[in-house]
Amino acid sequence: MTSRRKIFVGNWKMNKTPQEAQAFCETFVPAVNGLNNVDVGLAASALLLPGLTTRFRGVQWFAQNCHWAASGAFTGEVSTSMLKATDVGGSLVAHSERRQMCGETNASAGQRVAALLGAGLQAILCVGETLAERDAGRWQDVLRTQLSEGFAATGIKHWSAALGSDPSRPLLTLAYEPVWAIGTGRAATSAQAQEAHAFIRSWLKESLGSDIAHRLRIQYGGSVTLQNVDELMGMPDIDGALVGGASLKADDFAQLVARGARIA
Ligand code: PGA
Repeated sequence: MTSRRKIFVGNWKMNKTPQEAQAFCETFVPAVNGLNNVDVGLAASALLLPGLTTRFRGVQWFAQNCHWAASGAFTGEVSTSMLKATDVGGSLVAHSERRQMCGETNASAGQRVAALLGAGLQAILCVGETLAERDAGRWQDVLRTQLSEGFAATGIKHWSAALGSDPSRPLLTLAYEPVWAIGTGRAATSAQAQEAHAFIRSWLKESLGSDIAHRLRIQYGGSVTLQNVDELMGMPDIDGALVGGASLKADDFAQLVARGARIA
Protein backbone atom coordinates (compact mmCIF):
# COMPACT_ATOMS: atom_id res chain seq x y z
CA MET A 1 0.00 0.00 0.00
CA THR A 2 1.06 3.55 -0.56
CA SER A 3 1.19 6.43 1.85
CA ARG A 4 -1.01 8.55 -0.38
CA ARG A 5 -4.30 9.60 1.19
CA LYS A 6 -7.20 8.73 -1.10
CA ILE A 7 -9.38 11.52 -2.48
CA PHE A 8 -12.98 11.06 -3.61
CA VAL A 9 -14.66 13.94 -5.40
CA GLY A 10 -18.19 14.07 -6.77
CA ASN A 11 -18.48 16.01 -10.01
CA TRP A 12 -22.05 17.25 -10.19
CA LYS A 13 -21.49 18.82 -13.62
CA MET A 14 -24.52 20.99 -14.59
CA ASN A 15 -26.87 19.36 -12.12
CA LYS A 16 -28.81 20.40 -9.00
CA THR A 17 -30.69 23.53 -8.02
CA PRO A 18 -29.61 25.25 -4.78
CA GLN A 19 -32.46 23.49 -2.96
CA GLU A 20 -31.46 20.08 -4.33
CA ALA A 21 -27.83 20.69 -3.46
CA GLN A 22 -28.75 21.61 0.09
CA ALA A 23 -30.92 18.54 0.54
CA PHE A 24 -28.07 16.37 -0.78
CA CYS A 25 -25.60 17.88 1.68
CA GLU A 26 -27.91 17.46 4.66
CA THR A 27 -27.70 13.71 4.10
CA PHE A 28 -24.26 13.33 2.56
CA VAL A 29 -22.05 15.50 4.75
CA PRO A 30 -22.96 13.91 8.11
CA ALA A 31 -22.69 10.47 6.48
CA VAL A 32 -19.06 10.99 5.45
CA ASN A 33 -17.93 13.06 8.41
CA GLY A 34 -16.63 10.10 10.35
CA LEU A 35 -14.29 9.06 7.55
CA ASN A 36 -11.05 10.62 8.61
CA ASN A 37 -8.63 8.60 6.49
CA VAL A 38 -9.79 9.97 3.13
CA ASP A 39 -10.43 13.37 1.54
CA VAL A 40 -13.98 13.92 0.33
CA GLY A 41 -14.98 16.70 -2.02
CA LEU A 42 -17.78 17.95 -4.23
CA ALA A 43 -17.33 19.91 -7.45
CA ALA A 44 -20.40 22.06 -7.94
CA SER A 45 -21.57 24.79 -10.27
CA ALA A 46 -20.12 28.18 -9.32
CA LEU A 47 -23.66 29.37 -8.73
CA LEU A 48 -24.25 26.78 -6.01
CA LEU A 49 -20.98 27.15 -4.11
CA PRO A 50 -21.67 30.33 -2.06
CA GLY A 51 -24.74 28.73 -0.50
CA LEU A 52 -22.89 25.56 0.44
CA THR A 53 -19.30 26.14 1.47
CA THR A 54 -19.77 27.79 4.83
CA ARG A 55 -22.87 25.81 5.70
CA PHE A 56 -21.32 22.41 4.97
CA ARG A 57 -17.72 22.48 6.10
CA GLY A 58 -17.32 18.72 6.44
CA VAL A 59 -16.32 18.28 2.79
CA GLN A 60 -13.90 20.03 0.45
CA TRP A 61 -15.57 22.26 -2.12
CA PHE A 62 -14.40 22.53 -5.71
CA ALA A 63 -15.44 24.67 -8.64
CA GLN A 64 -15.60 23.01 -12.05
CA ASN A 65 -13.38 25.59 -13.74
CA CYS A 66 -11.22 28.57 -12.80
CA HIS A 67 -9.49 31.19 -14.95
CA TRP A 68 -5.82 32.09 -14.75
CA ALA A 69 -6.23 35.87 -14.86
CA ALA A 70 -6.77 37.73 -11.61
CA SER A 71 -9.77 39.63 -13.05
CA GLY A 72 -10.88 41.24 -16.28
CA ALA A 73 -12.84 40.79 -19.49
CA PHE A 74 -13.40 37.01 -19.37
CA THR A 75 -17.14 36.55 -19.64
CA GLY A 76 -18.39 33.37 -18.00
CA GLU A 77 -15.22 32.61 -16.08
CA VAL A 78 -14.45 32.64 -12.34
CA SER A 79 -11.21 33.75 -10.68
CA THR A 80 -9.13 32.36 -7.85
CA SER A 81 -10.00 35.36 -5.66
CA MET A 82 -13.72 34.70 -6.19
CA LEU A 83 -13.18 31.09 -5.11
CA LYS A 84 -11.15 32.09 -2.06
CA ALA A 85 -13.71 34.68 -0.99
CA THR A 86 -16.38 31.98 -1.19
CA ASP A 87 -14.39 29.44 0.85
CA VAL A 88 -13.94 27.15 -2.14
CA GLY A 89 -10.84 24.99 -1.81
CA GLY A 90 -9.99 24.42 -5.46
CA SER A 91 -11.23 23.57 -8.92
CA LEU A 92 -11.35 20.89 -11.55
CA VAL A 93 -9.22 21.78 -14.57
CA ALA A 94 -9.69 20.68 -18.19
CA HIS A 95 -12.37 18.08 -17.65
CA SER A 96 -12.86 16.30 -20.98
CA GLU A 97 -16.27 17.92 -21.39
CA ARG A 98 -14.55 21.31 -21.27
CA ARG A 99 -11.83 20.08 -23.62
CA GLN A 100 -14.44 18.82 -26.10
CA MET A 101 -17.16 21.44 -25.80
CA CYS A 102 -15.41 24.60 -24.60
CA GLY A 103 -12.08 24.51 -26.43
CA GLU A 104 -9.94 23.83 -23.36
CA THR A 105 -6.36 23.05 -24.41
CA ASN A 106 -3.35 21.60 -22.65
CA ALA A 107 -1.84 25.09 -22.56
CA SER A 108 -4.88 26.74 -20.98
CA ALA A 109 -5.12 23.82 -18.55
CA GLY A 110 -1.56 24.45 -17.41
CA GLN A 111 -2.25 28.16 -16.93
CA ARG A 112 -5.31 27.36 -14.83
CA VAL A 113 -3.32 24.93 -12.67
CA ALA A 114 -0.63 27.55 -12.11
CA ALA A 115 -3.16 30.18 -11.04
CA LEU A 116 -4.85 27.82 -8.58
CA LEU A 117 -1.63 26.57 -7.00
CA GLY A 118 -0.26 30.11 -6.88
CA ALA A 119 -3.33 31.12 -4.88
CA GLY A 120 -2.89 28.18 -2.50
CA LEU A 121 -5.92 26.39 -3.99
CA GLN A 122 -6.18 22.78 -5.12
CA ALA A 123 -6.31 21.81 -8.79
CA ILE A 124 -7.60 18.51 -10.15
CA LEU A 125 -6.13 18.27 -13.64
CA CYS A 126 -8.04 15.86 -15.87
CA VAL A 127 -6.40 13.88 -18.65
CA GLY A 128 -7.59 10.94 -20.75
CA GLU A 129 -7.88 9.56 -24.24
CA THR A 130 -10.93 9.15 -26.50
CA LEU A 131 -12.19 5.78 -27.71
CA ALA A 132 -10.74 6.38 -31.19
CA GLU A 133 -7.35 7.15 -29.64
CA ARG A 134 -7.46 4.01 -27.49
CA ASP A 135 -8.59 1.84 -30.40
CA ALA A 136 -5.75 3.25 -32.50
CA GLY A 137 -3.28 2.21 -29.77
CA ARG A 138 -2.41 5.85 -29.08
CA TRP A 139 -3.48 6.28 -25.46
CA GLN A 140 0.07 6.60 -24.16
CA ASP A 141 0.96 9.26 -26.75
CA VAL A 142 -2.18 11.20 -25.90
CA LEU A 143 -1.48 11.11 -22.16
CA ARG A 144 2.17 12.04 -22.70
CA THR A 145 1.17 15.08 -24.79
CA GLN A 146 -1.52 16.19 -22.35
CA LEU A 147 0.92 15.92 -19.46
CA SER A 148 3.98 17.45 -21.10
CA GLU A 149 2.13 20.38 -22.68
CA GLY A 150 -0.02 20.93 -19.59
CA PHE A 151 2.87 20.87 -17.12
CA ALA A 152 5.05 23.03 -19.40
CA ALA A 153 2.31 25.68 -19.58
CA THR A 154 2.22 25.99 -15.79
CA GLY A 155 5.67 27.58 -15.90
CA ILE A 156 6.26 26.01 -12.47
CA LYS A 157 9.88 25.05 -11.82
CA HIS A 158 9.85 24.19 -8.12
CA TRP A 159 7.12 21.62 -7.75
CA SER A 160 7.89 20.76 -4.19
CA ALA A 161 7.13 24.32 -3.08
CA ALA A 162 4.18 24.67 -5.48
CA LEU A 163 2.38 21.70 -3.96
CA GLY A 164 1.91 23.47 -0.63
CA SER A 165 2.87 22.72 2.92
CA ASP A 166 0.58 19.79 3.77
CA PRO A 167 2.39 16.61 2.70
CA SER A 168 -0.75 14.48 2.80
CA ARG A 169 -2.71 16.88 0.60
CA PRO A 170 -0.58 18.14 -2.30
CA LEU A 171 -2.37 21.02 -4.04
CA LEU A 172 -2.26 19.23 -7.37
CA THR A 173 -4.19 16.02 -8.03
CA LEU A 174 -4.36 14.33 -11.43
CA ALA A 175 -7.49 12.60 -12.68
CA TYR A 176 -7.19 9.90 -15.33
CA GLU A 177 -10.55 9.96 -17.07
CA PRO A 178 -10.73 7.96 -20.29
CA VAL A 179 -13.35 9.79 -22.34
CA TRP A 180 -14.92 6.52 -23.47
CA ALA A 181 -15.68 5.63 -19.85
CA ILE A 182 -17.31 8.93 -18.83
CA GLY A 183 -21.06 8.67 -18.45
CA THR A 184 -21.16 5.51 -20.55
CA GLY A 185 -21.47 2.87 -17.85
CA ARG A 186 -18.39 1.27 -19.35
CA ALA A 187 -15.63 1.86 -16.81
CA ALA A 188 -12.05 0.97 -17.58
CA THR A 189 -11.19 -2.39 -16.08
CA SER A 190 -9.04 -2.15 -13.00
CA ALA A 191 -6.12 -3.52 -15.05
CA GLN A 192 -6.58 -0.88 -17.79
CA ALA A 193 -6.89 1.89 -15.23
CA GLN A 194 -3.85 0.69 -13.26
CA GLU A 195 -1.81 0.49 -16.47
CA ALA A 196 -2.68 4.10 -17.36
CA HIS A 197 -2.06 5.33 -13.80
CA ALA A 198 1.32 3.60 -13.72
CA PHE A 199 2.14 5.22 -17.06
CA ILE A 200 1.21 8.66 -15.69
CA ARG A 201 3.27 8.07 -12.55
CA SER A 202 6.29 7.01 -14.58
CA TRP A 203 5.92 10.17 -16.70
CA LEU A 204 5.82 12.20 -13.47
CA LYS A 205 8.91 10.42 -12.21
CA GLU A 206 10.91 11.12 -15.37
CA SER A 207 9.73 14.72 -15.59
CA LEU A 208 9.45 15.89 -11.99
CA GLY A 209 11.45 13.34 -10.00
CA SER A 210 10.51 10.37 -7.89
CA ASP A 211 9.59 12.31 -4.78
CA ILE A 212 6.90 14.36 -6.56
CA ALA A 213 5.75 11.30 -8.53
CA HIS A 214 5.29 9.40 -5.30
CA ARG A 215 3.44 12.24 -3.58
CA LEU A 216 0.96 13.19 -6.29
CA ARG A 217 -2.44 11.56 -6.15
CA ILE A 218 -4.00 10.19 -9.32
CA GLN A 219 -7.76 9.71 -9.25
CA TYR A 220 -9.58 7.46 -11.67
CA GLY A 221 -12.80 8.78 -13.23
CA GLY A 222 -15.28 7.27 -15.67
CA SER A 223 -18.35 5.24 -14.63
CA VAL A 224 -17.16 4.57 -11.09
CA THR A 225 -19.99 2.92 -9.15
CA LEU A 226 -20.60 1.01 -5.97
CA GLN A 227 -20.04 -2.16 -8.01
CA ASN A 228 -16.53 -1.40 -9.28
CA VAL A 229 -15.08 0.96 -6.66
CA ASP A 230 -13.50 -1.80 -4.55
CA GLU A 231 -11.58 -3.32 -7.39
CA LEU A 232 -10.42 0.02 -8.81
CA MET A 233 -9.32 1.36 -5.42
CA GLY A 234 -7.39 -1.80 -4.71
CA MET A 235 -4.89 -0.93 -7.45
CA PRO A 236 -1.56 0.46 -6.26
CA ASP A 237 -1.51 3.63 -8.40
CA ILE A 238 -5.19 4.57 -8.04
CA ASP A 239 -5.53 7.14 -5.28
CA GLY A 240 -9.23 7.91 -5.32
CA ALA A 241 -12.04 8.62 -7.73
CA LEU A 242 -13.69 11.48 -9.59
CA VAL A 243 -17.31 10.46 -9.78
CA GLY A 244 -20.01 11.93 -12.03
CA GLY A 245 -23.33 10.11 -12.31
CA ALA A 246 -22.88 8.06 -9.13
CA SER A 247 -22.30 11.23 -7.08
CA LEU A 248 -25.76 12.67 -7.66
CA LYS A 249 -27.63 10.69 -5.00
CA ALA A 250 -26.48 11.39 -1.45
CA ASP A 251 -26.96 7.92 0.03
CA ASP A 252 -25.35 6.15 -2.91
CA PHE A 253 -22.35 8.45 -3.06
CA ALA A 254 -21.87 8.27 0.71
CA GLN A 255 -21.82 4.46 0.43
CA LEU A 256 -19.36 4.60 -2.44
CA VAL A 257 -17.00 6.88 -0.50
CA ALA A 258 -17.30 4.69 2.61
CA ARG A 259 -16.35 1.66 0.51
CA GLY A 260 -13.35 3.49 -0.88
CA ALA A 261 -12.35 4.57 2.62
CA ARG A 262 -12.26 0.95 3.75
CA ILE A 263 -9.63 0.21 1.10
CA ALA A 264 -7.66 3.39 1.78
P1 PGA B 1 -19.16 9.53 -14.69
O1 PGA B 1 -18.38 10.92 -14.88
O2 PGA B 1 -18.82 9.01 -13.33
O3 PGA B 1 -20.62 9.88 -14.83
O4 PGA B 1 -18.68 8.62 -15.76
C1 PGA B 1 -17.07 11.08 -14.40
C2 PGA B 1 -16.58 12.48 -14.69
O5 PGA B 1 -16.93 13.02 -15.75
O6 PGA B 1 -15.83 13.07 -13.90
